[in-house]
Amino acid sequence: MIIGILGAMREEIEPILKLTTSLSSMNYGENIYYFGKIYNQNVVIAYSKIGKVFSSLTASIMIEKFKIQKMLFSGVAGSLNKNLKIGDLIRASSLCQHDLDISAFGHPFGFVPEGSRFIDSDNLLNQIADEVAKNLNINLNIGIIATGDQFVADKSRKEWVKNNFNADAIEMEGGAVATICKSLGVPFFVLRAISDSADEEAGIDFDSFLNESAKKSADFIVSMIEKI
Ligand code: ADE
Repeated sequence: MIIGILGAMREEIEPILKLTTSLSSMNYGENIYYFGKIYNQNVVIAYSKIGKVFSSLTASIMIEKFKIQKMLFSGVAGSLNKNLKIGDLIRASSLCQHDLDISAFGHPFGFVPEGSRFIDSDNLLNQIADEVAKNLNINLNIGIIATGDQFVADKSRKEWVKNNFNADAIEMEGGAVATICKSLGVPFFVLRAISDSADEEAGIDFDSFLNESAKKSADFIVSMIEKI
């Protein structure tokens, strides 16, 4: 079994790299891929850079070139749900692309013909996550994660995304990675720790809480690897 672990930013994978043994790396497609072992499982780790295009590229390379068989995404997100506070963990039940818009042709936001508006994450990985959370006494929230190529720091955009997709958290990669994994038949899991509330304070909060929240998510992902 080869497990892929993906983040968008270095801060999101750094805590995982620190726990990886037999570490080696390779440059490919203007990115660095790390190889090693966690709990005796083979892992391929990378940060894609921010956004849907870079994360799609990195996910595709992990699957097609490095032959990962499961994909775990770890990182931070903005909260769209008043019950989700900074530092809280949320796993995606399903993901969507909030900035995908051909509504001019009568299609709902987030939909293109032959695609689907929401993509569900893998049941087995979700079950493992729920067990890990229970064993460690961690509160793991579950909800819809909306993805787009925008850092949202604006109440009206936040409300729009929340209302149109019934989404609980917002970020910039998960829906893209979900699309790639679904298309290529790789089970995937997306975990985020809240870094901000996607409102006017989001930029400041993000900078303040990125490291702390990224580590919470990363530590949880490592605990999951022991159980996969
Ligand atoms: N990732 C973390 N916070 C975010 C926000 N407010 N918008 C988009 N992506 C994010």
